[in-house]
Amino acid sequence: MPLAKAQALHAARSAELDAQLAKLWPAWPKTITLEIGCGHGHFLTAYAEAHPKEHCLGIDILADRISRAQKKAHRSGLANLAFLQAEARLLLEVLPGTVRFSRIFVLFPDPWPKRRHHKHRLLQVEFLDLLAKRAGKGAHLFFRTDYEPYYQDAVATLRDHAAWQLADETWPFEFETVFQSRAEVHHSCIARVRTRHHDT
Ligand SMILES: C[S@@+](CC[C@H](N)C(=O)[O-])C[C@H]1O[C@@H](n2cnc3c(N)ncnc32)[C@H](O)[C@@H]1O
Repeated sequence: MPLAKAQALHAARSAELDAQLAKLWPAWPKTITLEIGCGHGHFLTAYAEAHPKEHCLGIDILADRISRAQKKAHRSGLANLAFLQAEARLLLEVLPGTVRFSRIFVLFPDPWPKRRHHKHRLLQVEFLDLLAKRAGKGAHLFFRTDYEPYYQDAVATLRDHAAWQLADETWPFEFETVFQSRAEVHHSCIARVRTRHHDT
């Protein structure tokens, strides 16, 4: 795609997402819980119900999955829960500047098993940098996958990352996702933003 066309498309998508974010909550909270790649929203709906004091935002790039998640949120009547069709990096660019993450869930992300496709994986150094810039003090990242090589890679990436450190902590909330229900086993890790890197 020619550069000018790509830039115009990016600007249009940013403006559209910005308009959707502006309507999401009457007043944006200072901190939110974010689920990236929320699919049909099973996990975050149950999580938001169990954590009424947290504002919970689920995003996914697929419109049909978000449409189902939004119906679920509507049926639940939970005022602290919202779903949006959004790509994770674009959300980080467009999210109101005052908003920080307290918890970030990445559950069963696309594993991209072929080596030449690893560049498409969500959990990479650059993306973790961007997440840390929007992480509040003590923010946690919760990662879970059924693809063991991705788990090993995520642990190694987080262990060596300047802004995150692995945390030996308990998984905060169990509720089976769609992909979890199809998996025989899964692996989880938790990371905490390093003190000097969080942004309050
Ligand atoms: C394998 S599915 C897992 C869905 C759900 N978390 C579960 O466990 O059932 C991965 C999801 O991540 C979404 N996704 C992939 N890349 C994304 C990105 N860059 N931003 C937002 N969502 C993304 C996909 O559309 C897909 O719905």
